[in-house]
Amino acid sequence: MMKVELATGVSHAQMVDVLVLPIVAGNKLTLSGRDAQKKAKKSMDGFIQSCASLGEFGGMHTLYHVDGIKATRILFVDGGDEKGLTLHSLRILSAKALRQLQGTGVQSASVYLSELNVRGASMAEKIQVVTEGALMGAYTFDKYKKRPEKVKSEVQSWQVMIGAKDDQEAAAQAVMRGQAIAMGTNFARDLANEPGNVCTPEFLGQQAESLQHEKLKVTVMDQKAIEEAGFTALLAVNQGSDKEARFIVMGYCGGAEDEAPVALVGKGLTFDAGGICIKPAAAMDEMKFDMCGAATVLGVFKAVTEMNLPINLLGVIASTENLLGGSAYKPGDVIRAYNGTTIEVINTDAEGRIILSDALAYAAEQKPAEIIDFATLTGACVIALGSQASGLLGSSKKVKDGLKKSGDYTHDRVWELPLFDEYQEQIKSEIADLKNVGGREAGTITAACFLSHFVGDTPWAHLDIAGTAWNMKGSDLAAKGATGAGVRLISDYLIRKAKQ
Ligand code: BES
Ligand code: MN
Ligand code: ZN
Repeated sequence: MMKVELATGVSHAQMVDVLVLPIVAGNKLTLSGRDAQKKAKKSMDGFIQSCASLGEFGGMHTLYHVDGIKATRILFVDGGDEKGLTLHSLRILSAKALRQLQGTGVQSASVYLSELNVRGASMAEKIQVVTEGALMGAYTFDKYKKRPEKVKSEVQSWQVMIGAKDDQEAAAQAVMRGQAIAMGTNFARDLANEPGNVCTPEFLGQQAESLQHEKLKVTVMDQKAIEEAGFTALLAVNQGSDKEARFIVMGYCGGAEDEAPVALVGKGLTFDAGGICIKPAAAMDEMKFDMCGAATVLGVFKAVTEMNLPINLLGVIASTENLLGGSAYKPGDVIRAYNGTTIEVINTDAEGRIILSDALAYAAEQKPAEIIDFATLTGACVIALGSQASGLLGSSKKVKDGLKKSGDYTHDRVWELPLFDEYQEQIKSEIADLKNVGGREAGTITAACFLSHFVGDTPWAHLDIAGTAWNMKGSDLAAKGATGAGVRLISDYLIRKAKQ
């Protein structure tokens, strides 16, 4: 695995395979670029004037064996218009540069991207995003391929360069946090990219148990324990599957003992065929990703334990498959959730809200300070927001505002939809307390309305990550497949909490 390390030193003297030097529109180099240019006498000038920056964000050019430069090559990374640079642009530039170098024989890089000016950003903030970008950009999921390319060459060392006068301690913390958050994200990606025949509820339980930390306690309930505890809604969805369900509870106690935790709840459908209301075959394979909410919770726990944050966290994951065996639950069935609420099943494919009813009710019973849940809950959310923002709904303005702030800051963005009382009409049942679907209109909202019945008066926010959790086209920061959506967002949200 690639290492990210802090280093200092003038660019021309670095004994590495590549210098990663930023340039912006107007062919403006940063301090270390100017150092290299000076040492190269006149040999670089023409290149820089003509094509090192075409003013196009993300453009790249390589120069080999430049006189006066110890590194074997220089990669110029174009930041485009300097005034438009944000922390997220730096994150992307770092990911792009890394990917450009992957497989080219380069093993070590001295990266000067944090010399770019980002309005309002500190050196430490810039270093954190450069770290995140490289590690997120380096992610691949190729364990099932013979793939000789893999052997070819991978970048081993990404040296994030800082000035000798910069605050070294803040920089070291920034690298540590960037690493923790990227590893949490990549862990969530790994779990979600696993196929459904490997990533089963049992497997998710084992993965939760694999997170070890002195302040972390993980309890995985098997089928029998779930029956005894009375998670009857989860059991109803599980009826159609031959595999056992799992209910995972994680407690992290990094803060004061008497402080109520933040509860994170995740939907863990390791495969959603829709049940008796079976889905069409097209893209049904993607329903292995229906456990991305659970993956986000596990990824956040990984990041938080790595960072050793001084906060308390409760994690709750309900996990099963939604299949259509002979005992499967059926449209028309009435089932009872953990908190006693009865649910008329109208559509067996609206299973996420059903298993979450038990998980949310259990979480609320633990008296947390607030609950945030993550779920690939509705296709309607994909239609509404696409892949650029997770749907945000909930009862607590404070929690929602905090999530919006962290979402904007980390570019792991959210967008709020309303939870007006009037929408509740759509999920009233003739014969039970609730029905599990509310018609075609406002599908994301009525799903959240359903969830609202299980959180009691705990401040609560729901993130519908159906559109953001995976992307079959890939993006600047993520290979095709799971994205780890929500891990950056919540990690930042919790870091801010820890500071309060
Ligand atoms: N896991 C799906 C939601 C989903 C669909 C996420 C496509 C990402 C992409 C969920 O369990 C589901 O099937 N929801 C139904 C609800 C409907 C029956 C009310 C949906 O959105 O179609
Ligand atoms: Mn479904
Ligand atoms: Zn589902």
